[in-house]
Amino acid sequence: MCGIVGYIGERSCAEILLDGLSKLEYRGYDSAGISVLTEEGIRTVKRRGRLQNLRGAVETAKLTGNCGIGHTRWATHGEPSDRNSHPHGTGRLSLVHNGIIENYLGIREMLERRGYVFESETDTEAAAKLIDFCYKGDPLAALREALPVLRGSYAFSVIFADYPGKIFAVRRDSPLIVGLSEEGNFTASDIPAILRYTRRYLLLDTDEIAVVERERVTVFDVAGNRVEKEVKTADFDMGAAEKGGYPHFMLKEIHEQPKALRDTIQPRLEDGLPRFSELPDDFFDGITKIYIVACGTAMHAGLVGRCAIERYAGIPVEVDLASEFRYREPLLDPEHHLFVCITQSGETADSLAALRLAKARGVRTLSVVNVLGSTISRESDQVLYTYAGPEIAVASTKAYSVQLAVMYLLALRLALLRKGISEEEVRRLTAELCRMPEVVEQVLAREDEIHHIAAACQNAHDLFFIGRGLDYALSQEGSLKLKEISYIHSEAYAAGELKHGTISLVTDGVPVFALATQDALYEKMIGNIKEVKARGAQVVLLHREKAADVGKIADLSFALPQMEELFCPIPGVTVLQLFAYYCSLLRGCDVDKPRNLAKSVTVE
Ligand code: AGP
Repeated sequence: MCGIVGYIGERSCAEILLDGLSKLEYRGYDSAGISVLTEEGIRTVKRRGRLQNLRGAVETAKLTGNCGIGHTRWATHGEPSDRNSHPHGTGRLSLVHNGIIENYLGIREMLERRGYVFESETDTEAAAKLIDFCYKGDPLAALREALPVLRGSYAFSVIFADYPGKIFAVRRDSPLIVGLSEEGNFTASDIPAILRYTRRYLLLDTDEIAVVERERVTVFDVAGNRVEKEVKTADFDMGAAEKGGYPHFMLKEIHEQPKALRDTIQPRLEDGLPRFSELPDDFFDGITKIYIVACGTAMHAGLVGRCAIERYAGIPVEVDLASEFRYREPLLDPEHHLFVCITQSGETADSLAALRLAKARGVRTLSVVNVLGSTISRESDQVLYTYAGPEIAVASTKAYSVQLAVMYLLALRLALLRKGISEEEVRRLTAELCRMPEVVEQVLAREDEIHHIAAACQNAHDLFFIGRGLDYALSQEGSLKLKEISYIHSEAYAAGELKHGTISLVTDGVPVFALATQDALYEKMIGNIKEVKARGAQVVLLHREKAADVGKIADLSFALPQMEELFCPIPGVTVLQLFAYYCSLLRGCDVDKPRNLAKSVTVE
């Protein structure tokens, strides 16, 4: 989604803005622009397409000044074009925006009646012109008057021609930080944009307005009172936000999984048993049902969580897409239900709305979040952080693995509390979970085999993933990963469901990736594989070592090492991630920045 960067300092800002925007490319964008306060007033350059288009135009325009704002746009209102790109404004101010102004049409009509002329189709231009309309020489007063009129979500950075040394920043439900350094201060959507210059930053709360100057940052609340903010320090350095010798962030992040798993599991162990010291002891008391709510990959982690929690803790679990949950009027019981939100970014708009709904209904909320200090982590009653480090590639990989790890720990912890299984069995399973980083390393060492499978499937138009139980949950993640980055149409099917319709699509040569890692379901899976094989499918089988008849039923196969089958999704997903990665690479796609996708989906 859109990325914001602003800089005020001693240095010339155009290069700093372009550099910051390049660090936000991972969020997904289709156009970009900057505004700089120059001696001739505010000058703006914006271009459709990749940042290099903007870079060329900025060089030609020779923008000189040390206060400015920049933006990468992920189109929502209006096609990607120079005109619709941000910044937007008037001669008096320029503004960049991340979020959606829901009532922009009404605002636009009101302003048009008062003589304003609009140049773009965007919602953002309505906000910029509304602030201009409210501006009588005092930017803070203008913002305070305009903000209550806006409905929706926003993070804004605004510069005013009359105030060349200041950037005004404000947010509601969209992320925005203020970076602090000796050589000037910043506004940014995310830490990587400023990491080259500083690791120190402030988090803004809803509707707080920051006045960012060269040597100071002053923050005001909605009522105009000054607010003291805690200075935070980013816990990762430039290395974490760079490719470190890998050709793509995605590949780097796939390879970081063993470490991410260790970092996430180890702090949650006590005497060989799972324990969450960050949660109050009685947090799970009286829980009779759990709702796991999330989007995309995070929701897929929830599906694995459901299998594990129901099987070992005996607590019924519903898994919902956040975008559905928030509108389906869920039957929530404040005393006995637990709401669990899973999110890498902690900023996903639908997940945040679902969390707020659960909180408003008085239900206990727990979030599994990767980004420290993100909105969802701050608004949840309790948080379990995953320690994957920054995930830059749009396709989520290591974040999913650590979400799985937390789901397993949660299932085992609940099993222990419920005394659903013996302590000895929980201890055995926990020890097996601790072995997963090593098992993933073994899979990573066999990357060539997966490359070979991808080469055999790279020209497919359609590809099916099938599985049962945990394998079906994992199939859904494998299929999403493939679609996202290789653009091969793919579907994940519960293997037993194929014959109820979808098998009509399986014809000669269509690849079917069959996941069969669960002993109790293996024979059933063989039956389903035979069904697709009989229709000409090219079968790729993911199984555990020593599975029967692999050569007879599959064209290609990958054997996971012998291990506890409950945890197969962890090394299993490594195989599917690498499969998607190599399919994408072999088809010449942009692995880290797939078309139309954004890393953090901060609009509904
Ligand atoms: C995963 O590869 C996707 N890019 C996407 O499905 C993602 O998992 C989803 O948008 C949820 O994001 P979150 O974990 O940051 O909430």
